[in-house]
Amino acid sequence: MSILIRQASPESLQIAAQRLRAGQLVAFPTETVYGLGADARCDQAVAQIFAAKNRPAINPLIVHVASAKQAAQLVDFDDRAQRLAAQFWPGPLTLVLPARAGGGVSSLVSAGLPTLAIRVPAHPVAQALLKEAAVPIAAPSANASGTLSPTSAQHVAKSLGDKAGMILAAGRAAVGLESTVLDLSDAQARLLRPGAVTLEDLRDLLGDVALSLHPEQGQVRSPGQLLQHYAPRTPLRLNAVDVKKGEALLAFGSLRFMACQETGFARDLPEERLQNLSATGDLLEASSNLFDMLHKLDSAGATAIAVMPLPKIGLGLALNDRLSRAAGDML
Ligand code: TXA
Ligand code: MG
Repeated sequence: MSILIRQASPESLQIAAQRLRAGQLVAFPTETVYGLGADARCDQAVAQIFAAKNRPAINPLIVHVASAKQAAQLVDFDDRAQRLAAQFWPGPLTLVLPARAGGGVSSLVSAGLPTLAIRVPAHPVAQALLKEAAVPIAAPSANASGTLSPTSAQHVAKSLGDKAGMILAAGRAAVGLESTVLDLSDAQARLLRPGAVTLEDLRDLLGDVALSLHPEQGQVRSPGQLLQHYAPRTPLRLNAVDVKKGEALLAFGSLRFMACQETGFARDLPEERLQNLSATGDLLEASSNLFDMLHKLDSAGATAIAVMPLPKIGLGLALNDRLSRAAGDML
């Protein structure tokens, strides 16, 4: 396998930008997760993303741009979008807005929808790549469709192999969860995917924001919501208050009172079957660890992964969302 993993540097960024302009794929770091990028204006390049990930063509992609000004060339950027961009861009917030006619984005990106999902990533390497390539970059998470999102270059290589083309590496993704997706395509703002920009943050700025995480049939606003997501192969057992025989443990907070059938105390589980999202109960630390720890526990040969309960407010909403999708609870 000839995977080209290159540490981000002025030289590798130039090569990556050339590849993008030539219609080829480049996996690159963002502050949320690693993305698999292609020139959003080029049908043939965007089609390669769907092929590499084995992603259903009905599931639209996010377009990454360098600034709100560039975003406004591709979508109708209303007053709500202006205010959100001023506060949260660059950063982990994706806005779904009506696509502008003549914006030049391939219709494969939006899967034929009249809207476009768009964001300005904060990671310096993503910013540098956008500037160097000078094209809007369509990029889903850089993993095979239906599997865990990648928070390191190694995750990308493991999931996509040489289908990723080139992988720009820059350590671990700081946020570790995919961006918040907010639908502003009509007067009612709707949260389609919770993330590090929280529901509370959005309501502070916009007032009314509806929750639309589990749409009824016929009311699907984001095709990705229908599909199984973030799934490890090992089954998950959520809100666990003890550890059964053969299970691994994804902990959150203190392990002092956690019992285990095999070892008595959960803290005495063998290292490969125990991961703690945050021993101090810090939600930000937990989000940056989530996918990496699920990746690790998934290869421990456990019968199931017991997951301790997490609070459901702030970033906890996004963590619980990803965990219940990983457990298949939302199908
Ligand atoms: O953090 C992130 O958002 C990462 C990095 C790489 O930026 N990207 C990412 O992309 O998570 P992806 O493709 O894995 O998730 C995009 C989500 C999907 O659930 C998709 O259905 C939804 O955004 N989406 C994209 N375009 C949409 C649109 N026009 N209307 C509604 N939902 C849309
Ligand atoms: Mg994804």
